[in-house]
Amino acid sequence: MVASRPVLEAVSVAGEALARAPRIEGVPTGVPGLDELFFTAETRGGKLRVRPLPGFPRYAAVHVTGVSDTGKSLLAEQFALAQADRGEGVIFVTVENPAAFVSVGLEQRRAAMGLAKGTLDRIALVDAARHPELREDLATLGATLDAALGKVDARHLVIDSLTGLYEAREVAARPIVRWIYQFTKERGLTAVLTSQKRSSHEELSAEAAGGFVVSHVLDVTVVLAKKLVMSTAQARVWRAPLGEVVRFIRVDGSRYSGHDTRTHFLEITPAGLLRVGPPVGAGGEGGEAQ
Ligand SMILES: Nc1ncnc2c1ncn2[C@@H]1O[C@H](COP(=O)(O)OP(=O)(O)O)[C@@H](O)[C@H]1O
Ligand SMILES: [Mg+2]
Repeated sequence: MVASRPVLEAVSVAGEALARAPRIEGVPTGVPGLDELFFTAETRGGKLRVRPLPGFPRYAAVHVTGVSDTGKSLLAEQFALAQADRGEGVIFVTVENPAAFVSVGLEQRRAAMGLAKGTLDRIALVDAARHPELREDLATLGATLDAALGKVDARHLVIDSLTGLYEAREVAARPIVRWIYQFTKERGLTAVLTSQKRSSHEELSAEAAGGFVVSHVLDVTVVLAKKLVMSTAQARVWRAPLGEVVRFIRVDGSRYSGHDTRTHFLEITPAGLLRVGPPVGAGGEGGEAQ
Protein backbone atom coordinates (compact mmCIF):
# COMPACT_ATOMS: atom_id res chain seq x y z
CA MET A 1 0.00 0.00 0.00
CA VAL A 2 1.18 3.53 -0.79
CA ALA A 3 1.94 5.76 2.16
CA SER A 4 -1.14 7.95 2.24
CA ARG A 5 -1.48 11.59 3.01
CA PRO A 6 -4.51 12.67 5.00
CA VAL A 7 -7.23 14.73 3.29
CA LEU A 8 -7.36 17.43 5.92
CA GLU A 9 -10.21 19.30 4.19
CA ALA A 10 -12.38 16.29 4.93
CA VAL A 11 -11.94 16.69 8.67
CA SER A 12 -13.91 19.27 10.64
CA VAL A 13 -15.13 19.72 14.17
CA ALA A 14 -18.90 19.34 14.32
CA GLY A 15 -19.36 22.61 16.19
CA GLU A 16 -17.46 24.55 13.52
CA ALA A 17 -19.23 22.73 10.71
CA LEU A 18 -22.53 23.69 12.33
CA ALA A 19 -21.60 27.37 12.23
CA ARG A 20 -21.14 27.08 8.47
CA ALA A 21 -24.26 24.96 7.91
CA PRO A 22 -27.22 26.61 6.18
CA ARG A 23 -30.28 27.34 8.30
CA ILE A 24 -33.04 24.97 7.33
CA GLU A 25 -35.97 26.82 5.81
CA GLY A 26 -38.95 25.64 3.82
CA VAL A 27 -39.34 25.87 0.06
CA PRO A 28 -43.05 26.12 -0.89
CA THR A 29 -43.85 23.14 -3.09
CA GLY A 30 -46.71 24.54 -5.20
CA VAL A 31 -48.91 21.60 -4.15
CA PRO A 32 -51.61 22.68 -1.67
CA GLY A 33 -51.35 20.66 1.55
CA LEU A 34 -47.86 19.27 0.85
CA ASP A 35 -45.89 22.03 2.60
CA GLU A 36 -47.55 21.22 5.93
CA LEU A 37 -46.19 17.65 5.91
CA PHE A 38 -42.69 18.99 6.74
CA PHE A 39 -41.90 20.49 10.10
CA THR A 40 -39.14 21.36 12.48
CA ALA A 41 -38.90 20.92 16.23
CA GLU A 42 -37.48 23.59 18.52
CA THR A 43 -37.17 23.94 22.26
CA ARG A 44 -38.59 27.13 23.73
CA GLY A 45 -38.72 27.75 27.45
CA GLY A 46 -37.82 24.12 28.04
CA LYS A 47 -40.77 22.98 25.93
CA LEU A 48 -40.44 21.10 22.67
CA ARG A 49 -42.51 22.75 19.96
CA VAL A 50 -43.15 21.45 16.52
CA ARG A 51 -43.83 24.04 13.83
CA PRO A 52 -44.39 23.66 10.12
CA LEU A 53 -41.26 24.27 8.04
CA PRO A 54 -43.33 24.65 5.77
CA GLY A 55 -42.36 23.10 2.43
CA PHE A 56 -39.44 20.95 1.28
CA PRO A 57 -36.27 21.69 3.24
CA ARG A 58 -34.12 24.07 1.19
CA TYR A 59 -30.99 22.42 -0.31
CA ALA A 60 -32.58 18.98 0.00
CA ALA A 61 -32.61 16.56 -2.91
CA VAL A 62 -36.18 15.27 -2.89
CA HIS A 63 -36.96 11.91 -4.46
CA VAL A 64 -40.54 11.60 -5.75
CA THR A 65 -41.32 8.01 -6.64
CA GLY A 66 -44.34 6.02 -7.76
CA VAL A 67 -45.62 3.85 -10.59
CA SER A 68 -46.76 5.58 -13.75
CA ASP A 69 -49.75 7.89 -13.63
CA THR A 70 -49.52 8.65 -9.91
CA GLY A 71 -48.79 12.38 -10.30
CA LYS A 72 -44.97 12.61 -10.28
CA SER A 73 -44.76 14.88 -13.31
CA LEU A 74 -47.57 17.09 -12.01
CA LEU A 75 -45.71 17.48 -8.72
CA ALA A 76 -42.47 18.29 -10.56
CA GLU A 77 -44.21 20.90 -12.72
CA GLN A 78 -46.12 22.54 -9.88
CA PHE A 79 -42.89 22.73 -7.88
CA ALA A 80 -41.02 24.36 -10.77
CA LEU A 81 -43.80 26.90 -11.34
CA ALA A 82 -44.07 27.79 -7.65
CA GLN A 83 -40.33 28.59 -7.54
CA ALA A 84 -40.40 30.61 -10.75
CA ASP A 85 -43.39 32.54 -9.41
CA ARG A 86 -41.30 33.57 -6.39
CA GLY A 87 -38.55 34.78 -8.69
CA GLU A 88 -36.24 31.79 -8.18
CA GLY A 89 -34.83 30.20 -11.35
CA VAL A 90 -35.36 26.51 -12.09
CA ILE A 91 -33.58 24.05 -14.37
CA PHE A 92 -36.11 21.49 -15.60
CA VAL A 93 -34.50 18.44 -17.19
CA THR A 94 -37.03 16.46 -19.15
CA VAL A 95 -35.85 12.94 -19.86
CA GLU A 96 -38.86 11.18 -21.35
CA ASN A 97 -41.11 13.89 -22.73
CA PRO A 98 -39.64 16.32 -25.31
CA ALA A 99 -39.33 19.93 -24.10
CA ALA A 100 -42.07 21.26 -26.40
CA PHE A 101 -44.65 19.00 -24.72
CA VAL A 102 -43.42 19.88 -21.25
CA SER A 103 -43.77 23.58 -22.05
CA VAL A 104 -47.42 23.00 -23.00
CA GLY A 105 -48.01 21.18 -19.69
CA LEU A 106 -46.25 23.94 -17.75
CA GLU A 107 -48.35 26.58 -19.47
CA GLN A 108 -51.58 24.72 -18.59
CA ARG A 109 -50.47 24.38 -14.98
CA ARG A 110 -49.39 28.04 -14.86
CA ALA A 111 -52.86 29.14 -15.95
CA ALA A 112 -54.55 26.72 -13.51
CA MET A 113 -52.38 28.02 -10.66
CA GLY A 114 -53.26 31.59 -11.62
CA LEU A 115 -49.62 32.67 -12.06
CA ALA A 116 -48.32 35.49 -14.23
CA LYS A 117 -47.45 34.88 -17.88
CA GLY A 118 -43.75 35.60 -17.42
CA THR A 119 -43.39 32.73 -14.92
CA LEU A 120 -42.16 30.31 -17.59
CA ASP A 121 -39.26 32.64 -18.41
CA ARG A 122 -37.56 31.63 -15.17
CA ILE A 123 -37.64 27.92 -16.05
CA ALA A 124 -34.78 26.66 -18.24
CA LEU A 125 -35.85 23.46 -19.99
CA VAL A 126 -33.10 20.95 -20.75
CA ASP A 127 -34.27 18.43 -23.33
CA ALA A 128 -32.60 15.12 -22.53
CA ALA A 129 -35.43 13.30 -24.31
CA ARG A 130 -34.27 14.50 -27.71
CA HIS A 131 -30.57 14.63 -26.89
CA PRO A 132 -29.33 11.17 -25.91
CA GLU A 133 -25.81 12.45 -25.20
CA LEU A 134 -27.23 14.14 -22.09
CA ARG A 135 -28.45 10.76 -20.88
CA GLU A 136 -25.28 8.92 -21.76
CA ASP A 137 -22.51 11.21 -20.57
CA LEU A 138 -22.49 12.90 -17.17
CA ALA A 139 -19.80 15.44 -18.15
CA THR A 140 -21.97 16.64 -21.05
CA LEU A 141 -25.01 16.76 -18.79
CA GLY A 142 -23.02 18.74 -16.21
CA ALA A 143 -21.77 21.30 -18.73
CA THR A 144 -25.31 21.72 -20.09
CA LEU A 145 -26.78 22.11 -16.60
CA ASP A 146 -24.21 24.80 -15.83
CA ALA A 147 -25.16 26.66 -19.02
CA ALA A 148 -28.85 26.42 -18.06
CA LEU A 149 -28.01 27.54 -14.52
CA GLY A 150 -26.50 30.74 -15.85
CA LYS A 151 -29.49 31.39 -18.08
CA VAL A 152 -32.05 31.65 -15.29
CA ASP A 153 -29.85 32.05 -12.20
CA ALA A 154 -31.22 28.72 -10.99
CA ARG A 155 -31.71 27.82 -7.35
CA HIS A 156 -33.63 24.64 -8.13
CA LEU A 157 -33.18 21.53 -10.23
CA VAL A 158 -36.02 19.31 -11.42
CA ILE A 159 -35.32 16.04 -13.24
CA ASP A 160 -38.30 14.13 -14.64
CA SER A 161 -37.27 11.37 -14.49
CA LEU A 162 -34.04 10.00 -13.08
CA THR A 163 -35.05 6.54 -14.28
CA GLY A 164 -34.57 7.58 -17.90
CA LEU A 165 -30.91 8.36 -17.15
CA TYR A 166 -30.09 4.75 -16.29
CA GLU A 167 -32.65 2.90 -18.32
CA ALA A 168 -31.51 -0.62 -19.19
CA ARG A 169 -28.31 -0.21 -17.15
CA GLU A 170 -29.49 -0.33 -13.60
CA VAL A 171 -26.03 -0.99 -12.18
CA ALA A 172 -25.20 2.57 -13.22
CA ALA A 173 -28.04 3.98 -11.12
CA ARG A 174 -26.04 4.57 -7.95
CA PRO A 175 -23.07 6.44 -9.50
CA ILE A 176 -25.43 8.55 -11.65
CA VAL A 177 -27.66 9.48 -8.73
CA ARG A 178 -24.61 10.18 -6.56
CA TRP A 179 -23.19 12.44 -9.25
CA ILE A 180 -26.45 14.40 -9.53
CA TYR A 181 -26.68 14.63 -5.74
CA GLN A 182 -23.14 16.02 -5.57
CA PHE A 183 -23.93 18.49 -8.35
CA THR A 184 -26.93 19.89 -6.44
CA LYS A 185 -24.85 20.25 -3.26
CA GLU A 186 -21.99 22.03 -5.01
CA ARG A 187 -24.34 24.46 -6.73
CA GLY A 188 -26.56 25.02 -3.67
CA LEU A 189 -29.68 23.77 -5.42
CA THR A 190 -32.89 22.35 -4.01
CA ALA A 191 -33.88 19.41 -6.19
CA VAL A 192 -36.99 17.45 -7.08
CA LEU A 193 -36.05 14.21 -8.80
CA THR A 194 -38.72 11.79 -9.92
CA SER A 195 -38.29 8.08 -10.45
CA GLN A 196 -40.51 5.42 -11.87
CA LYS A 197 -41.20 2.60 -9.50
CA ARG A 198 -41.75 -0.92 -10.70
CA SER A 199 -45.29 -2.06 -10.15
CA SER A 200 -44.00 -5.29 -8.59
CA HIS A 201 -42.91 -3.40 -5.48
CA GLU A 202 -45.42 -3.13 -2.68
CA GLU A 203 -46.87 0.27 -3.42
CA LEU A 204 -46.59 2.35 -0.29
CA SER A 205 -43.80 0.51 1.52
CA ALA A 206 -40.38 1.91 2.31
CA GLU A 207 -38.94 -0.65 -0.07
CA ALA A 208 -41.18 0.76 -2.71
CA ALA A 209 -39.48 4.08 -2.14
CA GLY A 210 -36.11 2.42 -2.52
CA GLY A 211 -36.36 1.76 -6.19
CA PHE A 212 -32.81 0.53 -6.56
CA VAL A 213 -30.58 2.82 -4.61
CA VAL A 214 -32.05 6.23 -5.15
CA SER A 215 -33.63 6.78 -1.76
CA HIS A 216 -30.45 5.81 0.05
CA VAL A 217 -28.59 8.63 -1.67
CA LEU A 218 -31.21 11.40 -1.65
CA ASP A 219 -32.37 13.42 1.37
CA VAL A 220 -36.17 13.24 1.23
CA THR A 221 -38.41 10.54 -0.21
CA VAL A 222 -42.02 11.11 -1.18
CA VAL A 223 -44.02 8.09 -2.34
CA LEU A 224 -47.06 8.42 -4.60
CA ALA A 225 -49.47 5.54 -5.17
CA LYS A 226 -52.83 4.77 -6.65
CA LYS A 227 -55.30 2.02 -5.90
CA LEU A 228 -58.46 0.78 -7.45
CA VAL A 229 -61.40 0.54 -5.02
CA MET A 230 -62.25 -3.15 -5.22
CA SER A 231 -64.14 -3.95 -2.01
CA THR A 232 -66.83 -2.34 0.08
CA ALA A 233 -64.36 -2.15 2.97
CA GLN A 234 -61.97 -0.13 0.82
CA ALA A 235 -64.86 2.00 -0.41
CA ARG A 236 -65.74 2.81 3.21
CA VAL A 237 -62.20 3.59 4.41
CA TRP A 238 -61.21 5.50 1.31
CA ARG A 239 -64.61 7.14 0.94
CA ALA A 240 -64.80 6.43 -2.77
CA PRO A 241 -67.17 4.33 -4.88
CA LEU A 242 -66.24 0.86 -6.10
CA GLY A 243 -64.23 0.93 -9.31
CA GLU A 244 -62.79 4.38 -8.66
CA VAL A 245 -59.06 5.15 -8.60
CA VAL A 246 -57.82 6.66 -5.34
CA ARG A 247 -54.40 8.32 -5.09
CA PHE A 248 -52.16 8.53 -2.02
CA ILE A 249 -49.05 10.39 -0.93
CA ARG A 250 -46.66 9.65 1.91
CA VAL A 251 -43.40 11.20 3.05
CA ASP A 252 -41.18 8.18 3.60
CA GLY A 253 -38.24 10.02 5.10
CA SER A 254 -36.51 13.38 5.42
CA ARG A 255 -32.95 13.84 6.65
CA TYR A 256 -33.23 17.60 7.07
CA SER A 257 -36.56 17.99 8.86
CA GLY A 258 -39.35 16.30 10.72
CA HIS A 259 -42.25 15.08 8.65
CA ASP A 260 -45.77 13.77 8.80
CA THR A 261 -45.58 9.98 8.68
CA ARG A 262 -49.20 9.33 7.70
CA THR A 263 -50.55 8.35 4.33
CA HIS A 264 -52.65 11.15 2.87
CA PHE A 265 -55.16 11.19 0.07
CA LEU A 266 -53.88 12.87 -3.07
CA GLU A 267 -56.35 14.50 -5.42
CA ILE A 268 -56.13 15.81 -8.95
CA THR A 269 -58.44 18.80 -9.24
CA PRO A 270 -60.63 19.30 -12.33
CA ALA A 271 -58.10 21.93 -13.45
CA GLY A 272 -55.42 19.24 -13.41
CA LEU A 273 -53.51 20.22 -10.27
CA LEU A 274 -52.35 18.00 -7.44
CA ARG A 275 -53.66 18.66 -3.95
CA VAL A 276 -52.88 16.78 -0.74
CA GLY A 277 -55.99 15.75 1.17
CA PRO A 278 -56.52 14.57 4.75
CA PRO A 279 -54.73 11.53 6.15
CA VAL A 280 -56.32 8.18 5.45
CA GLY A 281 -58.54 7.12 8.32
CA ALA A 282 -58.71 10.58 9.90
CA GLY A 283 -62.04 11.90 11.04
CA GLY A 284 -63.97 8.70 10.21
CA GLU A 285 -67.00 9.04 7.97
CA GLY A 286 -67.40 12.63 9.09
CA GLY A 287 -64.07 13.74 7.59
CA GLU A 288 -64.64 16.36 4.98
CA ALA A 289 -63.33 15.78 1.50
CA GLN A 290 -62.45 19.48 0.99
N1 LIG B 1 -55.19 18.79 -17.01
C1 LIG B 1 -55.46 17.66 -16.39
N2 LIG B 1 -56.70 17.40 -15.95
C2 LIG B 1 -56.99 16.26 -15.33
N3 LIG B 1 -56.11 15.29 -15.10
C3 LIG B 1 -54.85 15.48 -15.51
C4 LIG B 1 -54.45 16.66 -16.17
N4 LIG B 1 -53.13 16.54 -16.44
C5 LIG B 1 -52.74 15.35 -15.99
N5 LIG B 1 -53.76 14.72 -15.44
C6 LIG B 1 -53.74 13.37 -14.88
O1 LIG B 1 -52.85 13.32 -13.80
C7 LIG B 1 -52.43 11.98 -13.63
C8 LIG B 1 -51.00 11.95 -13.19
O2 LIG B 1 -50.20 12.39 -14.26
P1 LIG B 1 -48.60 12.47 -14.19
O3 LIG B 1 -48.19 13.49 -13.18
O4 LIG B 1 -48.15 12.68 -15.58
O5 LIG B 1 -48.18 11.02 -13.67
P2 LIG B 1 -46.74 10.34 -13.61
O6 LIG B 1 -45.71 11.37 -13.94
O7 LIG B 1 -46.65 9.81 -12.22
O8 LIG B 1 -46.78 9.22 -14.61
C9 LIG B 1 -52.71 11.29 -14.94
O9 LIG B 1 -53.76 10.38 -14.71
C10 LIG B 1 -53.18 12.39 -15.84
O10 LIG B 1 -54.18 11.93 -16.72
MG1 LIG C 1 -44.35 11.43 -15.53
